[in-house]
Amino acid sequence: MAGGSGFLGTYLNRALLRRGHDVEFVTRQKEPTQIMWKDLKKWDCLPYTYDSIVNLCGTPLHLSRKWNEQSDVYSSRIGTNLLLTKLIAQTKEKYRPKSYITPHYEGIYPRHIGASSYDESYFPPEVPTDSVQKLCYHWEKSAQLPAEVKNVRQVGLRIGPVLAWDGGIARQAFMRFYCGFGGKWGTGKQAFSWIHAEDLTELFVYAIENRRVTGMLNACAPVQNTSEEFVRAYASGMNRPCLVHLPEGALNTYLGKERAALLTGGATMLPKRTLETGFRFRHTNLNKVMDEICSLR
Ligand SMILES: NC(=O)c1ccc[n+]([C@@H]2O[C@H](COP(=O)([O-])OP(=O)(O)OC[C@H]3O[C@@H](n4cnc5c(N)ncnc54)[C@H](OP(=O)(O)O)[C@@H]3O)[C@@H](O)[C@H]2O)c1
Repeated sequence: MAGGSGFLGTYLNRALLRRGHDVEFVTRQKEPTQIMWKDLKKWDCLPYTYDSIVNLCGTPLHLSRKWNEQSDVYSSRIGTNLLLTKLIAQTKEKYRPKSYITPHYEGIYPRHIGASSYDESYFPPEVPTDSVQKLCYHWEKSAQLPAEVKNVRQVGLRIGPVLAWDGGIARQAFMRFYCGFGGKWGTGKQAFSWIHAEDLTELFVYAIENRRVTGMLNACAPVQNTSEEFVRAYASGMNRPCLVHLPEGALNTYLGKERAALLTGGATMLPKRTLETGFRFRHTNLNKVMDEICSLR
């Protein structure tokens, strides 16, 4: 597991160990028991045989920070995918992993209010001009193994906002809601295609263990909620008011229109293929999920 020291990696590692798997990490940190990127770069094939490789690397996407193709926002995702796919391709067929699993982001979908719903079949026809979509486009392309690599299943998860008490959007907004400054941003009518961290972890495990599962899967609960429903559920779970409103104009001025669109727009994502593979989500009620998360704080 590359990038396994982070939020999602911690959940996934715990789940895999509980199920009896052995997990080895690839990291930038110097740990005698782990593989370091700088060592991996020296090899021309994978050093050991693995059942699966999961690449969770990605430096956080801060809304207030701009990025371009030279920044670590790109290199941490795309550079690591390119190295791992190259090593998989250069490994003899009988020693290759059975699967290569990567997270992606719902930002691949066009974000505007009233936009149609998207399922996994969508992929931008050409390189998008919008910087978030463009990053997602190159990120998904970088995870593709060369066509001559057979028998390695590829699974990508396009992930919506992850709900958990110890990470993701709820943790980021905690102080705001705790201090009673919670409220909607923009119109509040934007689609909010969320997933509980437990369901996301299960989906990663499902993708690793099930030989039938391949291709892109949307990682979001099979329900449709708006961002206003999310902030109301959060404030109610915290027993706090939900009165503050960040208007779209203010966000556009502060963050720039393109970046602000991450908040003011929202794509309705449907987990069509995910459900077709037989995966079942345990958490589908936003109010219940936020009550549970708030009770854990
Ligand atoms: N959390 C979400 O809501 C969400 C939603 C959609 C997609 N994702 C994607 O899922 C992946 C994991 O998310 P997360 O929330 O677990 O992220 P995270 O907590 O920030 O952890 C990501 C890991 O990436 C590694 N990393 C960071 N910067 C790096 C760099 N410059 N080069 C190489 N490795 C680097 C770090 O591992 P080491 O320190 O061990 O090297 C870090 O632990 C990311 O790609 C993220 O964009 C997350």
